[in-house]
Amino acid sequence: MAGLETDRIGQNVIAYDEVVSTQPLAHEAAAKGAVEGTIVLAELQTGGKGRLGRPWHSPKGTGIWMSLIIRPAIPLPKTPQMTLLTAVAVAKTIREETGLPVKIKWPNDIFIGDKKVCGILTELNAESDRVNYLVIGIGLNANSLESDFPSELAQIVTSLRIESGEPLKRVSFIQRLCQIFEEEYDHYLQAGFARIKQEWENHSYTIGKWVTLQTISQQLEGRAVGLDEEGVLKVEDQTGQIHKVYSADVNYRAN
Ligand code: BTN
Repeated sequence: MAGLETDRIGQNVIAYDEVVSTQPLAHEAAAKGAVEGTIVLAELQTGGKGRLGRPWHSPKGTGIWMSLIIRPAIPLPKTPQMTLLTAVAVAKTIREETGLPVKIKWPNDIFIGDKKVCGILTELNAESDRVNYLVIGIGLNANSLESDFPSELAQIVTSLRIESGEPLKRVSFIQRLCQIFEEEYDHYLQAGFARIKQEWENHSYTIGKWVTLQTISQQLEGRAVGLDEEGVLKVEDQTGQIHKVYSADVNYRAN
């Protein structure tokens, strides 16, 4: 991308008009040795993938549908921190480019008010305990109008254009996102997770809210109180006991 001021994030771009999903294409590129920072972009995804096997609505030309390949030399248990880092980078880019008051819903949804504007899907390729690479899928509703969403989504999702009233310049947004991601990522690799934890908490939709969580092993209700030093969500139940939640589907209720 001409004018991109990064060392490696976004320096190699693989762009398509129409794909099923950018995720498997990024895996394919990574397996063939694509350099760290490679991004796979598409104008339209016919089978966009969301978390937990859900579909991701990805109509032509209205969004940013991209998958980023990174190859961090970190232990496997730390890889969920890359999702938190990505959410921070996206939230900071949206704030900077549009001024909109975005929030991060744990672990990886970006919200404006009570509506989702962006989702992140992180997929890991590892051998025994070594990370080969991560594919981080970012789906951002950029220029969609309300009429672009199917009726079952219209109540729960939004776009930057709907919220700001202005069309988004997608190429300059992607460039800025690559720059902010690289700054955060380089800092993380040198200095660790503390700054991401702070920035994530500053942008958090979740902290302070009553949540009902369905984890693999239990249903839990309580107040989200913060992240621990590793990025795991801490939830305080009614008895004051703190639970650490690594992965779950989260529902919210009024305080
Ligand atoms: C979520 O469920 O919130 C995650 C959505 C991730 C969507 C993006 S769009 C680009 C990349 N390609 C996909 O098929 N999914 C991710």
